[in-house]
Amino acid sequence: MTTTTIKAENISKVYSLQKQKTFKEFLPALFGGKETRTKFNALSHINFEVKKGESLGIMGKNGSGKSTLLKIIAGVTKPSDGRITVLGQVAPLIELGAGFHPELTGRENVYLNGSILGFKRKEMDKLYKNIVEFSELVDFMDQPVKFYSSGMYMRLAFSVAVAEIPDILLVDEILAVGDSKFQQKCLDRIREFQNQGSTMIMVSHSVEMIGQYCTRGLLLKSGKQIYFGDITEALSKYQDLLT
Ligand SMILES: Nc1ncnc2c1ncn2[C@@H]1O[C@H](COP(=O)(O)OP(=O)(O)O)[C@@H](O)[C@H]1O
Ligand SMILES: [Mg+2]
Repeated sequence: MTTTTIKAENISKVYSLQKQKTFKEFLPALFGGKETRTKFNALSHINFEVKKGESLGIMGKNGSGKSTLLKIIAGVTKPSDGRITVLGQVAPLIELGAGFHPELTGRENVYLNGSILGFKRKEMDKLYKNIVEFSELVDFMDQPVKFYSSGMYMRLAFSVAVAEIPDILLVDEILAVGDSKFQQKCLDRIREFQNQGSTMIMVSHSVEMIGQYCTRGLLLKSGKQIYFGDITEALSKYQDLLT
């Protein structure tokens, strides 16, 4: 598995959902009545492989399990069944503001995020200037990030994640919240990484973006894998699904 960076073997994810109880149902439950949890299959039997330097686009309607899958790859959540193998350092951009502490300033969050990504303080001191420059948030670094807009969050999160070339970059839709000029800047950076051999997994509703930046495609429908393989075929099947 020397050239394989990410391998998903028969991955499933089951969420246990708490049913909303009425008061009549609540009392017996309190005294040891039946549990009213239902199981929900967010992902069922997912299998794919991403080789080093490849870019995989994950497609599917809302709720099809795309973010859950990225979280499993990032190690934020575990599969209920099956196995995930990830070789290399992962830079995850999977949830807006995840890893950000609202009360801390932009500067403090940059350092906090850097340490989550595995950078030492000294390395961060060196990277800090470039991160802030890339984010174009120089004047906002001493403000608590709770005052940031979603676009500003995204700028800062992306800037930290791409401060150094990651082995594996995970991008979940967040590019959509930026303005188009900043989005293009992020995409240029992503292209640079691809040219230097980084592996990427991208979730986007934009067929154009996936087509332009991904070589392979994975199509999900209600947590099930509809297709994995060539990007052209994946996009065409995705468009069939939408019509
Ligand atoms: N922590 C959770 N607990 C329960 N259900 C969840 C949780 N996270 C996601 N889900 C459910 O799993 C399904 C897939 O969600 P998600 O992976 O976010 O889909 P997508 O990113 O494709 O829109 C959805 O039905 C969602 O409601
Ligand atoms: Mg999602």
